[in-house]
Amino acid sequence: KRHFTSATDLERLEVLSLLDLADSFVALNRQKAKKLDLLKGRTLMNLFFENSTRTQSSFELAGKRLGADVVNMSPRSSSMAKGETLIDTAVTLNAMQPDLLVVRHASSGAASLLAQKVDCSVINAGDGKHEHPTQALLDALSLRHAFGDISGLSVAICGDVAHSRVARSNLIMLQMLGAHVRLVGPPTLIPGAAKNWGVEVFHDMREGITGVDVVMMLRLQLERMTGALVPSTREYFRFYGLDREKLACAKPGVKVMHPGPMNRGVEIDSDIADDLTVSLIQNQVEMGVAARMAVLASLAARLDNA
Ligand code: CP
Repeated sequence: KRHFTSATDLERLEVLSLLDLADSFVALNRQKAKKLDLLKGRTLMNLFFENSTRTQSSFELAGKRLGADVVNMSPRSSSMAKGETLIDTAVTLNAMQPDLLVVRHASSGAASLLAQKVDCSVINAGDGKHEHPTQALLDALSLRHAFGDISGLSVAICGDVAHSRVARSNLIMLQMLGAHVRLVGPPTLIPGAAKNWGVEVFHDMREGITGVDVVMMLRLQLERMTGALVPSTREYFRFYGLDREKLACAKPGVKVMHPGPMNRGVEIDSDIADDLTVSLIQNQVEMGVAARMAVLASLAARLDNA
């Protein structure tokens, strides 16, 4: 496909091939290799309507390391502040002939909508509660580095599943790669439809992470909650925050992931987040650049062959 707006855009073999390509970029990045020219003459536009530290900077680095011209468009200082719509903005940018448009937006489906309006390739960098497919790819890359193979791993995705695009994309990609996925969280933060997703659902955290290889924590997305749904963060940590005592229920050698940004002391104890024998969190950030380089290189190769 020309776009990457959902983890469902990829078949298993395509994911494996992207992970292999990303591996080669991990090695080059670690050697601080010179810029490549796979995207020479191509233009990448970053269009982030929601805040980002990891995703935006890693797409920028990924584009530059592959030789692309990269433009970061800031909606706050754009004509959207004067009332221009999302679609008019995208069509305007499209007229400048970019090759790749990376979009983050608070509305589910925004990236797919834009993909129908522009000629270039659109990459979803997070759309509302819907999907964050490059996060799932970088998480798979981190797991492959930690365990060698993802097939057969038991992964507990814990916390605010209801508001998490990371959970949705990871669920799709992890199952595609043969992992067993559990969802763990309070009933208010696990969608009722989860029982149809081929997962085990747990509302008791200790039970939910018992014997798992991987605990993937999610940020409590208070900004997407209103009224009675907003939990007390102290109570949330007591029941669903990852601390040493709860983590002891997991398999020896368990690895802990978090997409960031973290709410320390809300969903995860600093003691675990900063323990590099257990935590893959910094590794996930490193893998983000390589995984996004692989996505950009693969989409650019399709443009070359079109
Ligand atoms: N994981 C993630 O998407 O982080 P940012 O919001 O910092 O991009």
